[in-house]
Amino acid sequence: MKYSAEINKRKTFAIISHPDAGKTTLTEKFLLFGGAIQTAGAVKSNKIKKHATSDFMEIERQRGISVATSVMTFEYEGHLINLLDTPGHKDFAEDTFRTLTAVDSVVLVIDSVNGVEPQTRRLMEVIAMRKTPVIVFINKMDRDGKNRFDLLEEIENELKIQLHPMTVPINSGKDFKGVYDLHKKSLVLFTAGTKANDEAVVEINDLNDTILETKIGKNDANILREDVELIDGVYGELNNTDYLSGNIAPVFFGSAVNNFGVKEMLDTFIRIAPTPRPRSTTTRDVLPEEEKFSGFIFKIHANLDPKHRDRIAFLRVCSGRFARHTYYNHVRLQKDIRFTNPYSFLARQKDVIEEAYPGDVVGLFDTGSFKIGDTLTEGENFYFTGIPSFSPEIFKEVVNKDPMKTKQLEKGLNQLTDEGVAQLFTQFGGNKKIIGCVGELQFEVIQYRLLQEYGASVQMNSLPFYKACWLTCKDAKKLEDFTKYKLANIAEDKDGNVVYLAQSEWFLNTEISNNPDIIFHFTSEINKV
Ligand code: G4P
Repeated sequence: MKYSAEINKRKTFAIISHPDAGKTTLTEKFLLFGGAIQTAGAVKSNKIKKHATSDFMEIERQRGISVATSVMTFEYEGHLINLLDTPGHKDFAEDTFRTLTAVDSVVLVIDSVNGVEPQTRRLMEVIAMRKTPVIVFINKMDRDGKNRFDLLEEIENELKIQLHPMTVPINSGKDFKGVYDLHKKSLVLFTAGTKANDEAVVEINDLNDTILETKIGKNDANILREDVELIDGVYGELNNTDYLSGNIAPVFFGSAVNNFGVKEMLDTFIRIAPTPRPRSTTTRDVLPEEEKFSGFIFKIHANLDPKHRDRIAFLRVCSGRFARHTYYNHVRLQKDIRFTNPYSFLARQKDVIEEAYPGDVVGLFDTGSFKIGDTLTEGENFYFTGIPSFSPEIFKEVVNKDPMKTKQLEKGLNQLTDEGVAQLFTQFGGNKKIIGCVGELQFEVIQYRLLQEYGASVQMNSLPFYKACWLTCKDAKKLEDFTKYKLANIAEDKDGNVVYLAQSEWFLNTEISNNPDIIFHFTSEINKV
């Protein structure tokens, strides 16, 4: 195993949350622990300020800044940790979903006051689909939140995942006194504004020890003893295999802004989180230890600044060793290409790198040859699978305002949708172009970029659809009949797959129940077996 030492050092993960739950704050604390930054407030992250939600240029500008923080690499206790950032803004949810295909585990942040929120639910659907191991961090324990057990129950029920508490909180809000670490059997006392490595930790070998009363008072000591007994009785020791298979999620309680409970989680993370895992492809599973390099593109970031027309394709290394100046096969184009300036994201700087290993993310300058899901190998013919396209929820017809620019428009639409900004559909039997997005902002981005980058001026007319579903059916005749009968609602995606555009939930449910042989898919895989 030539590269096993490098591979075993690496852990690649993402922090995800509903906006405002504390993702940016927690990211920053991780970087502080890892020594990658020295001061709080240094992480701009992908956080888009609330006042900018209607100004897409401002959002793109902020996203531009955030390319540098898209991947944050830091070292902690001998491990090399790649933290992949995900946009918090809901209109960029697809970006987040795709980033999740490039990580080996996630940390999910939940606000103890708000509990499970809409974005958390959607993210967890993707996580569950991929069986990604999850660690949950219940944040903002310094605020009057929900009862700890109610919260655990809510998360288990809503996210359909079994939890395993690793710490037990002592109260919340202004009475929050800290947590009891079930693994280390120690009491971690809370003081607001705790600095890194500065927590007051009391080792407690026996919970009946009266030191507990001295530290947190009689009443809370008794409640804690009961809590621990209850939790130990119900959950026992964490079974690591269950965590790694995505069936059980360890849970921590803390307060990111106060840097509290973060170290407990980070220490557990490096102990249990997976090193780079094998990946499925269209032909076989690829193991990270394999000698030959392979990887895939999970994100493309275009630069909106007209002076810098470059795009950056994000490559996740899956096996072998990636080296600068070396020819690799672009499987879709059947072309050998090499990279003169691949860069890494160590310490938030763009550094040109000579090599990278499984788990690493490399930024590649791209002039339009990549699309999401593209695979690079040393010659073997396969595509990495499991990169989803999600059912868009807003649809607009693209009307060309300048017939002289038809070709440019076509090119622009194809390239922009290759980047994953939006999805392109063509009406069946006609040539009406329909763009589907998850957020309204994407349309503005597309309209602007078509004009700026391709000289194509378009009008976007809203269409009365609410969801697109990919259709499959074992009986080709039945699918053909359905498409004929529902012609006004049928389109093709870029790969020629049949798509049904539903006007409303009622229509969709009616069609689903009237056509039991047809399967309505809410996601589609970019690379299919
Ligand atoms: P996000 O990336 O998930 O969107 O959330 P972010 O970390 O930006 O946190 C959202 C808000 O919650 C911030 O306040 C942040 O300071 C606060 N916060 C994070 N962790 C905790 C915590 O443990 N306890 C409490 N009480 N608040 C927390 P803000 O006022 O929106 O922004 P800022 O001006 O403080 O940056």
